[in-house]
Amino acid sequence: MTSDVVNARVTFRKSPIHMLERFTFPDLDSAYQSFLKHSGLQECVILQTCNRVELFGCASNTDLEKIKKTWASVAGLEENTFKENLEISCGTDAYTHLLKLTSGLDSLVIGEEQILGQVKDSITTARELKASGDNLNTLFDKAIKIGTRVRNATGISKGSISVGSMAVNLAEQNVDDLKSKRILLIGTGEAASLVAKSLKKRDIEFLVTSRTFERSKAFAETAGGKPLQFEQAISDFKSIDVLFVATVAPYFLVTHDRVKEAMQSRKDGMLIMDLSNPRTVDDKVSTIPKITVMNMDQIAEMVEKNMKNRMGVVSAAENIINEEIPIVEAAMKRLEVEPIVTNVFKDIDQVRVKELKKALQMLGEKDEQKIRIIDQLTQAIVEDIMSIPMNNLRKASEQGDSEILKTVTKLFDYKSRE
Ligand SMILES: NC(=O)c1ccc[n+]([C@@H]2O[C@H](COP(=O)([O-])OP(=O)(O)OC[C@H]3O[C@@H](n4cnc5c(N)ncnc54)[C@H](OP(=O)(O)O)[C@@H]3O)[C@@H](O)[C@H]2O)c1
Repeated sequence: MTSDVVNARVTFRKSPIHMLERFTFPDLDSAYQSFLKHSGLQECVILQTCNRVELFGCASNTDLEKIKKTWASVAGLEENTFKENLEISCGTDAYTHLLKLTSGLDSLVIGEEQILGQVKDSITTARELKASGDNLNTLFDKAIKIGTRVRNATGISKGSISVGSMAVNLAEQNVDDLKSKRILLIGTGEAASLVAKSLKKRDIEFLVTSRTFERSKAFAETAGGKPLQFEQAISDFKSIDVLFVATVAPYFLVTHDRVKEAMQSRKDGMLIMDLSNPRTVDDKVSTIPKITVMNMDQIAEMVEKNMKNRMGVVSAAENIINEEIPIVEAAMKRLEVEPIVTNVFKDIDQVRVKELKKALQMLGEKDEQKIRIIDQLTQAIVEDIMSIPMNNLRKASEQGDSEILKTVTKLFDYKSRE
């Protein structure tokens, strides 16, 4: 009858990007179908971003082995691939984790805004697919509200530096006079626009490309950069000093052969920043002399340093989360009791209606107004008698008194209708 919330996650905290990408679900719809069918979960929500793959689930009996098995099969992994990279939180720990997510406390860049939108999108998708139910819908709605409150109250999002800025900072640290270099940005999506914004802010010129030239042109008009034809851009890197890659291409765009060929007619080195996850720069590229490849792992290290300067805001955000957790717990516990309360009221009302009908027949009453008064009287009696015990039952449930739940279930002969 009672349902426990569980969160299973593989994130950048325990897994470098090249590991993390192995745990992603290539097809979300079929991942949802598989989890609902095979993992024993009655509800689930999947959150998949460039830094994390997370599953929130709800079941009356959580079976972690089944969850792992399903995850492995959907991601095409051996089951024993899950080692220390898989983190599990249950009950209140899972709630706290979700609140930290929506508040931006678990992000690579503390306070970043995108995660809140990604959490909103994940629950919307789960709702549309009917994969989430009362438990996860309530939990996510509360977490989104609290995350927004934390951000407004602490200003945690204001001082955060985007992944794009971090990437450009790293490039500045690794290249002399970045402004004088020829820079190419491959990608015109969200991550690319963060890089573009940061380059533009520093008055640094750059070229931009993506598969559709129209898209590159539109990007250049709004985010900056000079559009370049895709084929031309990716087949000829010899004039490029710094390359930023931020695409969702499911293969290596920047291959060993292409870079090696470019390097044959270059004297200077080249810096390649791969923001993509899965990566789109072949690992082997870093073995080419004078080539430096950096990816999200290096960006993560830099972000860590930035975070140390923001510890005050972090603890203010944590305090709000600690205040809110008991409220979330109470709301979640209340969900356990609501089906019983509804059911008891429904059963009693059926008896009331049956007895009322009998009494009206015996009285032979036809006067509409009198019938309405008698009907309202019986309703009021039922509500007066039942409201105190039912409210006490709700309170007991909020306080975690599972014994009283069992007693009421037995007394009213309630059976879960899952
Ligand atoms: N969003 C973030 O905050 C963020 C932060 C850090 C890292 N990342 C990572 O950065 C990458 C891009 O994320 P995003 O959020 O920017 O995604 P997005 O907004 O969906 O943009 C995807 C980009 O990839 C290009 N693309 C798609 N398929 C391609 C293919 N087969 N070959 C070449 N280009 C292709 C798209 O342009 P065309 O379709 O026109 O080619 C578009 O420019 C992802 O790997 C993500 O994990 C994102």
